[in-house]
Amino acid sequence: MISYPPEPFRIKVVEKIQLLDREAREKVMEEAGFNVFNIASKDVYIDLLTDSGTGAMSDQQWSAIMQGDEAYAGARSFYRLKESVEKIFSFRYFIPTHQGRAAENILAELLVRPGTMVPSNTHFDTTQANILARGGRPENLVISESEDPSTRYPFKGNMDVAKLERVIEEVGTENIPLGMITITNNASGGQPVSMENIRQASEVYRRHKIPFFIDACRYAENAFFIKSRESGYENKPLLQIANEIFSYADGVIMSAKKDAIVNIGGFLAMNDEQLFNQARNKLVLREGFPTYGGLAGRDLDAIAVGLWEGLEESYLEYRVGQTKYFGERLLQIGVPIVEPPGGHAIYVDAGMMLSHISRDIFPGQALSIELYLEGGIRAVELGSVAFAYEDPSTGETIYPALEMLRLAIPRRVYTRAHFDFVVDVFGRIMENRETIPGYRLTYAPKLLRHFTAAFEPVQ
Ligand code: F0G
Repeated sequence: MISYPPEPFRIKVVEKIQLLDREAREKVMEEAGFNVFNIASKDVYIDLLTDSGTGAMSDQQWSAIMQGDEAYAGARSFYRLKESVEKIFSFRYFIPTHQGRAAENILAELLVRPGTMVPSNTHFDTTQANILARGGRPENLVISESEDPSTRYPFKGNMDVAKLERVIEEVGTENIPLGMITITNNASGGQPVSMENIRQASEVYRRHKIPFFIDACRYAENAFFIKSRESGYENKPLLQIANEIFSYADGVIMSAKKDAIVNIGGFLAMNDEQLFNQARNKLVLREGFPTYGGLAGRDLDAIAVGLWEGLEESYLEYRVGQTKYFGERLLQIGVPIVEPPGGHAIYVDAGMMLSHISRDIFPGQALSIELYLEGGIRAVELGSVAFAYEDPSTGETIYPALEMLRLAIPRRVYTRAHFDFVVDVFGRIMENRETIPGYRLTYAPKLLRHFTAAFEPVQ
């Protein structure tokens, strides 16, 4: 029997959820323009849209919120967060931001110029969009193993370092204002990156004097995978593993809405003093004074505590165990997923599951619609709706490697019975999958189109 460690907490507060009947769900979906982002939360039964900002905070975090210092400048909350950030990430400077993409925006505004290129293993959608918005070119250099959903390579999120060298050679260091790595690799199946890979990428970036920033939203889950899968790290404390990861970088962008288990918040940290001074000026212009950066003092305190809770070993064993349980149960009933299961989500290979739907009519979108219609479950397409874009220089459409549907798992929110329900719904969809239609766009903005696009079924 597949299982996972019991929740290392008990439940003190609950929130009611309800499943609308089929007819009501059909009406909701039509009114939402066949885009689950337009559905009201009250109409969703199990919400696997994202693990971002959707976690349950602990009693300790709620207590910390009561101690929030709301002073405009130099609040105690800021210093408490500074201490947590310094101990885990150990960069010389940091600024809070209201969430991850605000940090991305500041970094992109300061460094990315039209025509420049920013390599990464795989950029997430907001990072990609922030680079494109400054006229830059995001370049994804994830290892080729990631393109085969069924291979069980332990670190499928890795960067192809040889390719990185080649790309740097071709483009020239003067056209690469920064280099990145995303841990875990959200846009490539939520797969982890090995310490060895981070070290090698760092070596290349440093040899070419390219500033190296880690997109660190899910660094704690990544650290746990390093501990459980990479030799030499079995007995190291997670904090030490995190410290080593960040020692190879020049800075991080962080969405605290993931591994810091808060509902809002993020930060940008770095070692370069000059860059920090510029970032601080941008922060004052757009986000707020440097000691609160677009957040309330209480939010800073919740992050300061949550950073430690997200790095606890018993929590991560349960967390990664739950994700694995869910993934293995889906595999048992024949649902093709990205293997092995990652940390924060299960990625269904919708292109494979709905192979009768071609990628121009969006198999991932079709599956997201069917999942809501069949079970009131919400999940996000991470395929051509989210990631296909026009190359700014050639005008050619660049497609992502896979057409995926992501079932993201909010932290400390759902129990095994919820996941069993989702698996049953998938079972019913599998039986009738040939009848599911594709969808065409009726509205789409240029950047980040998946959030607000509208669709209609292709008959
Ligand atoms: N980087 C990665 C890898 C992310 O997954 C996200 C957000 C961000 C940056 C941006 O952070 O949302 O705080 O502005 N990912 C969410 C998700 C939205 O659903 O995966 P943000």
